[in-house]
Amino acid sequence: MILLKNARVFDGKELNEESADVLLKGTTIEKIAPSINMEEGMQVIDLDGKILAPGFIDLHVHFRDPGFEWREDIESGSKAAAAGGYTTVVTMPNTDPAVDTPALVKYVFERGRQAGGARVLPGACVSKDRKGELLAELGLLREAGAVLFTEDGAPVRTSKLLRTALLYCKDIGAIIMEHPEEISLTEKCQVNEGRISSLSGLKGFPHSAEYIDIERGIALCRETKAPIHFTHVSTSLAFKAIAEAKNEGLPVTCDVTPHHLSLDENNVIVSRYHSVYKVNPPLRSREDVKAAWAAVADGTIDAIVTDHAPWHENEKDLPFEEAPFGIASLECSVAVVLDTWLKMGKPVSLSRVLELFTSGPAAILPEEWRGLGHIAEGAVADLTVIDLDESKVVDVSTWKSKARMTPWNGEILTGWPVMTFIEGRLFDGGGSYGEN
Ligand code: DOR
Repeated sequence: MILLKNARVFDGKELNEESADVLLKGTTIEKIAPSINMEEGMQVIDLDGKILAPGFIDLHVHFRDPGFEWREDIESGSKAAAAGGYTTVVTMPNTDPAVDTPALVKYVFERGRQAGGARVLPGACVSKDRKGELLAELGLLREAGAVLFTEDGAPVRTSKLLRTALLYCKDIGAIIMEHPEEISLTEKCQVNEGRISSLSGLKGFPHSAEYIDIERGIALCRETKAPIHFTHVSTSLAFKAIAEAKNEGLPVTCDVTPHHLSLDENNVIVSRYHSVYKVNPPLRSREDVKAAWAAVADGTIDAIVTDHAPWHENEKDLPFEEAPFGIASLECSVAVVLDTWLKMGKPVSLSRVLELFTSGPAAILPEEWRGLGHIAEGAVADLTVIDLDESKVVDVSTWKSKARMTPWNGEILTGWPVMTFIEGRLFDGGGSYGEN
């Protein structure tokens, strides 16, 4: 049994400023009370007023396994997630082979179970081989353990396929996670369209590309009444469209990334086009970052996801135009968000920020996993401890992840996850991968 003393408990919705003790027994939370007496055989950890939250959930990570394990495999990714404060992550299926069969779904789940870090839940493809032609066997994939369906890296190729997939998902209690991009508008694009594309001469992703795909999804959602989730939303135009759909009562949800909440296109210029800032969707304007925080405040955004996109240094450390898209961030993403939130003068309540890492994403998962985003007696003991006063340098040489290139390496950030409990077990690091 583990007794956590003097915690400020965030239960998934509200932060209780009164100090509480929380007792973990086996894999569950046994008791929560203002004070619990220590008994023999208990391991006691004094949290000294730190925040005890439900284990953080990341609905969108790329672990490159199977197929590209040198970039990240399920074990390194799962450990990186736990080191970064996450207890559950959902993997994207843009692997090789793409995760489009029950056997591959089970492979990801089983490898995750053995990995020794965060729980790994498989996301599966909408179409066979992610080709956008034939619908994958969504029912069988769901039965095998897939928690959502996505073509991430690309949108669902045709409206017809998306409509059919939405109708299937409605029946099987799953959700489509749409990567919102009208690809006929984004061919060869490199950066945001606007100031940076004008200054650099690089081709810019127009905001309409995100907006058009979101409007397509909303139209199909309106017709089918099937839930749809838009991932890594980045423009004020898109937040507005999603807010309107929500006001209309449609089952639409969305998420935003730590990089779109903290960085903007100027970082690309100031860094003289460093490839660590190359990501899809691209870093947008300062106004879009402000719109993202406004969308956090008004409830438009349901979750924060990393879109952790690991690449080997040899593949990513190239001139901007030649480098692949993607930011690796699992081990500093929580601190990036909290540090930005602190520096911006706390534009929203802390509870609202914590909700987007816990009960927000949990509500998007299928029924059997929804309990994960809450702290209550009898709930699974997945917990993240946050120290808002902790300041630390981001040092990729200590990462569990195989990725080494991130925009924040060497930066001092304030507000860190300092302990992660997965099913009642304190994550102790589980060995580093060092140089790769
Ligand atoms: O920047 C990105 N990288 N965006 C995506 O949508 C895919 C991801 C990847 O797989 O590397």
